[in-house]
Amino acid sequence: MDKFRPKYHFTPERNWMNDPNGMVFFNGEYHLFYQHHPHSALPGPMHWGHAISSDMVNWEHCPIALYPDENGVIFSGSAVVDWEDTSGFFGGKPGLVAIFTHHDRMPGMDRVRERQSLAYSLDSGRSWIKYSDNPVLESDRFVDFRDPKVFWHSDSKRWVMILASGQSVCLYHSDNLKEWTFSSEFGHGNGSHDGVWECPDLFALPVDGDPSRMKWVMIVSIGRPEQGTMTQYFIGEFDGHSFVNDNPADVVLRLDHGSDNYAGVSWSDVPEEDGRRNYIAWMSNGKYAIVTPTDEWRSAMTVPRTLTLESRHNQIRLIQNPVRELEQIRISILSLEETSIEEAQLHIAGLELDSFEMIAEFVPGMTKALTIKVRASDSQQTVIGYEANQNEIYVDRTRSGIIDFHKGFAGIHAVKLATATESIKLHIFVDRSSVEVFVNDGIAVITDLIFPEPGATGLELSASEAGMRLRRFELFKLG
Ligand code: FRU
Repeated sequence: MDKFRPKYHFTPERNWMNDPNGMVFFNGEYHLFYQHHPHSALPGPMHWGHAISSDMVNWEHCPIALYPDENGVIFSGSAVVDWEDTSGFFGGKPGLVAIFTHHDRMPGMDRVRERQSLAYSLDSGRSWIKYSDNPVLESDRFVDFRDPKVFWHSDSKRWVMILASGQSVCLYHSDNLKEWTFSSEFGHGNGSHDGVWECPDLFALPVDGDPSRMKWVMIVSIGRPEQGTMTQYFIGEFDGHSFVNDNPADVVLRLDHGSDNYAGVSWSDVPEEDGRRNYIAWMSNGKYAIVTPTDEWRSAMTVPRTLTLESRHNQIRLIQNPVRELEQIRISILSLEETSIEEAQLHIAGLELDSFEMIAEFVPGMTKALTIKVRASDSQQTVIGYEANQNEIYVDRTRSGIIDFHKGFAGIHAVKLATATESIKLHIFVDRSSVEVFVNDGIAVITDLIFPEPGATGLELSASEAGMRLRRFELFKLG
């Protein structure tokens, strides 16, 4: 039995997966490509695997989209709808263009080479043709030069590419996706430089939903070798040419406070009527991704999330919430209002759940600590908790199940709450091998893998003081 195969998170049918790639919406379909090694559950020569969905939740596996070729293996990248056929690939009609990194070895030299290339599809993403003049962009400055994310910049009426270049990002522009001109570089002295920068994204969002207050968000994943991979983001201005960081250069904004959210980027071309910026990430960590205890397949994606910008406590922050489409796979188990921890615990005592969603809104009052144990058995448990002294929310996976496959796996991942609030809301997604905790409507998220035994299906609520109030407690089975 495939005991860790998630019920409602995306996984490859078989073998290795890492970064999400080429995410684009076209003709009513969400495309998800991904870094894929189709011959083993370990990394190897990278391909682009492919899946299609109408709702980002139910996925249909498709044949491999891009295979390695004479220019190298296929690393991460993006895809866009070329609406005006600026590339000339589509005879005047709209079509899909993928922009990705070709990774190979420099002929006659002991160093790698990373160059950007194109592929296009004449059948809505079902099959792909590599551009005959690949590669279209290379660098004589950077060895690490990869993960192009391309978008149409409507003010300057041209394509913009952001890609990772060592420990910075470079921006380029183009009229036709084939010829690229350097615009600017961003990153030196800004944010975290604990590792090579990877998988950037750049997009505009309204602040607090107000279209007259647009800000640009830059997402950058950081390949930290020892501490483990993590993702940071910047908020600022972008004029089609260069990005200016709004925050002091040394501020590091973490996109996720758990261990298992990496290389995430957003879907391109979601229709304006919808207007959402939806995002998905690789739910693993470079530190131990190759030794996680799954057999046939390795790695899952996070739940898809909608990104927004909100001013909270006088600061603009990136907010993440699960996409609303996830509500379609809910089966309600319990819905309580204005109750106590003890009362809620009576309702959940006999439940056996391995993949579910929980919404708990509690009023801490004088309570020092709250714990929610999920995937619990006599010997195993993952603890999601609130600590009043530290004013923090944490996930403790030190006794979550199989932890000994890597010395850096077991641990506690916490996030501080900005200020004391009257109530705290935890929106929790548990699956067969993961926990995602959205705190206070998405101001912080903790995403962690866990590997509990299938029989660890218990759920338990407790607080350090009796009578702790729960404003709302809801449980849904998922998948
Ligand atoms: C991030 C990454 C990317 C690269 C890809 C290769 O996880 O290292 O920078 O394109 O994986 O699989």
